[in-house]
Amino acid sequence: MRAHESFTCLVTGDRAPRANFHTLLSCVLPRPIAFVSTLSADGVHNLAPFSFFNAVGSNPPAVIFSPSTRADGTQKDTINNLRQVPEMVVQVVPHAIAEAMNQASAQYAPEVSEFQAAGFTPIPSRYIRPMRVAESPVQMECRLLRIVPVGDGPLSGNVCIGEVLCFHVADGFLTGDETVDIEKIDLIGRMGGDWYSTIRDRFELSKPAAGSTGNVRPRPAR
Ligand SMILES: Cc1cc2nc3c(=O)[nH]c(=O)nc-3n(C[C@H](O)[C@H](O)[C@H](O)COP(=O)(O)O)c2cc1C
Repeated sequence: MRAHESFTCLVTGDRAPRANFHTLLSCVLPRPIAFVSTLSADGVHNLAPFSFFNAVGSNPPAVIFSPSTRADGTQKDTINNLRQVPEMVVQVVPHAIAEAMNQASAQYAPEVSEFQAAGFTPIPSRYIRPMRVAESPVQMECRLLRIVPVGDGPLSGNVCIGEVLCFHVADGFLTGDETVDIEKIDLIGRMGGDWYSTIRDRFELSKPAAGSTGNVRPRPAR
């Protein structure tokens, strides 16, 4: 391992939000992608991807994602819908649906359903009103626990915390009762700019005992 000798310090308070956005997104990566379906009070089934996304607990199973406030200060349809109908389905994004997922991220008017606009198949949920995306192999029905605003201007965050009520796992994707097959699920991650990654290039690290030096076993890409 080599220690770096000098660093450039970018002071966030001295920079435009857009510059901080680009720096953050080019170093926190790859980010998993939540493909989130919500329902508006008018009955429109909305769908949008969010890479400010992660799992944050298992008891109860919980996820967070964050629709940012738009550059013009308005809110995205997803957050508006969640304030009206506090339920969502969080879908995973395999490589096979990357292009259609990207299409669903276009800024459609609130009355347009991205299910139709981007060609996804809506299927009813078991416990909540928003629809599931049949093309995604894992769908998590969630109830919204809380929205935590992080700032209040353009590009500020709106962290949505959801409790996962059930996982729908497509046939053939479960290995045993608990784990989803990561080869089959073939997820993509978001990088900086327009770049994405796959999860096909992996390596394994066994859990260390205190004081051990560890070991790395490279795995060939598929
Ligand atoms: C892969 C990907 C990840 C994205 N992640 C985010 C995100 O974390 N937060 C966000 O505000 N917008 C994100 N976007 C942009 C939103 O998907 C986009 O603004 C969308 O129009 C929001 O839809 P809505 O208005 O229907 O909620 C992402 C777009 C893509 C393609």
